[in-house]
Amino acid sequence: MAKRLLIQGCTGSIGRSVLSVIGAHRDRFRVTGLAARSSAEALLALAREWSAESIALEDETRADFLRAEAARFGGPRIFVGRDALRTQCEDTDYDLLVNAVTGSAGLEPTAVALRRGINVALANKETLVAAGPVITRLAAEGGARILPIDSEHSAIFQCLMGERQESVRRLWLTTSGGPFWGKSAAELEGITVEEALAHPTWKMGPKITVDSATLFNKGLEVIEAERLFGIPPDRIEVVAHRQSVIHSLVEFTDGSLKAQLSVPDMRLPILFALTYPERIESDLVRTDVSRLGALTLEPVSRDEYPCLTLCYEALRRGGTAPAALSAADEVAVGAFLKRQIGFNDIARVLNEILKAWPDEPLASLADAREADRRARAMTLKLITQGKNNSMRDACC
Ligand SMILES: NC(=O)c1ccc[n+]([C@@H]2O[C@H](COP(=O)([O-])OP(=O)(O)OC[C@H]3O[C@@H](n4cnc5c(N)ncnc54)[C@H](OP(=O)(O)O)[C@@H]3O)[C@@H](O)[C@H]2O)c1
Repeated sequence: MAKRLLIQGCTGSIGRSVLSVIGAHRDRFRVTGLAARSSAEALLALAREWSAESIALEDETRADFLRAEAARFGGPRIFVGRDALRTQCEDTDYDLLVNAVTGSAGLEPTAVALRRGINVALANKETLVAAGPVITRLAAEGGARILPIDSEHSAIFQCLMGERQESVRRLWLTTSGGPFWGKSAAELEGITVEEALAHPTWKMGPKITVDSATLFNKGLEVIEAERLFGIPPDRIEVVAHRQSVIHSLVEFTDGSLKAQLSVPDMRLPILFALTYPERIESDLVRTDVSRLGALTLEPVSRDEYPCLTLCYEALRRGGTAPAALSAADEVAVGAFLKRQIGFNDIARVLNEILKAWPDEPLASLADAREADRRARAMTLKLITQGKNNSMRDACC
């Protein structure tokens, strides 16, 4: 029987890749629901193409348009507004939630699906970063699995299959180093939005592309790895691998290392998450091993990547610190993309927010939501102050 999929974030880079994987294996999957933030036209086009039974859109201003247009092709159920994605997760039937939205908006839908005992194929790393302990507890209580879509975590997940947790010495997350690998902080000072959005190997949405350039994305992945695999931060390493072929490695207590490799193509970890626990026959992604050429691994100096260091610090502090840092980054990257602050200001702002953030426990989703709200407000205030002075003065 075809697996019924609810795909939230269907209009984005990961969402489109998910649909392309499904398109190549139509006999195995059925799209029952689709969701986006404000791309009403694209959502409608996809709903029509995939005969979705329900659609959800966060942007309330497009509600009338959505209803009128959807009625013209058989009328899927429509959810609109701030709670639309959560309600769609609660009130519709599906076998797997594919969470491919950006930012903290991914939190509630994941929690709802897990509470219902439904597996979640998770691209939205902010969910685990902001509320990791609560989310993993919900998964355990609901008897549901979180299947990582991030290529690094999918690699580790695959390397750990059949292994015991106590046999793991270290996790090694690979990073391409982004477009500015090897550049000094002084050279990065005048980096433009266009330069930051030109990633050497992956084609991704704007927020994660900027996060890849600062290595904040790698920091989020360190936090995500700790949540998913229960390995403490001092046993999670980052290593530079410019070719993006080795997606990550696990080092075992006997000295062995396992890695997962393929040409860089997100459709492969997506396929694995969608078909888990099966590995199906597929020609979607083929790697010609004889043509891969030289594969290199180089150390990463954390001192040169303050955003990565801040993520380790937030993870060690625990409680609401990762949620606050992640929310602050969403605001800071948004301000950079709007050209309100410079590239290096992102790290300055995050450093300031983490320094000011109190140590407090995280017991519930409400705690994560509240930390998110406060951190956003603090970050906006800091950025507004910085516009009047210089960001450097506002932060130091
Ligand atoms: N791209 C990658 O290769 C990659 C790899 C690993 C992990 N990830 C993670 O996957 C997630 C998605 O990344 P992406 O690159 O696909 O982003 P993207 O291209 O910017 O797409 C984001 C998607 O989420 C929707 N969305 C955003 N905010 C929303 C909200 N508040 N409510 C409802 N829908 C919302 C967008 O809808 P609209 O079109 O209406 O704005 C869009 O469909 C991120 O957490 C990212 O870190 C991405």
